Amino acid sequence: MRFMADAATEILPIVIAPARILKTKTRRVGPADAAAVGALLPRMFATMYHAPGIGLAAPQVGVDLAVTVIDLMPDDKPNPIALINPEIVAASAELAAREEGCLSLPGQYAEVTRPARVKVRYEDPSGARHEIEAEGLLAACLQHEIDHLNGILFVDHLSALKRNIILRRLAKERRQNPATPLSAGASAGGAGTREKALTGRV
Ligand code: NI
Repeated sequence: MRFMADAATEILPIVIAPARILKTKTRRVGPADAAAVGALLPRMFATMYHAPGIGLAAPQVGVDLAVTVIDLMPDDKPNPIALINPEIVAASAELAAREEGCLSLPGQYAEVTRPARVKVRYEDPSGARHEIEAEGLLAACLQHEIDHLNGILFVDHLSALKRNIILRRLAKERRQNPATPLSAGASAGGAGTREKALTGRV
């Protein structure tokens, strides 16, 4: 099953931190969500490729469902993976540090330490169950995206000091360059709401 979006596929606005939905655990996808997920996935892939990014979780486009998409583009070729209700079922004791960024914290990067290898169980869009073992970039990406589904951002793995430096820098950059739209919800609220969203503490 391919999810390559065509040019007509809608690009969704990406929610920028701080935002409540980025701090909220998502709801598991059930059979009643099949149509919503089917409509969401091509838009999530289109939004991720457009950003561009290598992973995107549903809360980052304002959707409260345990859905994430990943494409590491190995050898510059598309390799889209859609993960429904993913969970980490095993993680190595060995750790690995890697610089991470996030589409919801644009322009911000920090080294994050996580288990070097993970085993992840998930469902594909047809409902079939899968298990993958990952290391390297894919392991970090899977953990980053599954974190999003649990209301956790990469900065939450840093010290409070480092986290606050990054969040303040992001807020300052957003104030100085408000041209980039925030989430649809935030920008619809007018200048007052936007200012509050930008300066609020995550
Ligand atoms: Ni992210």
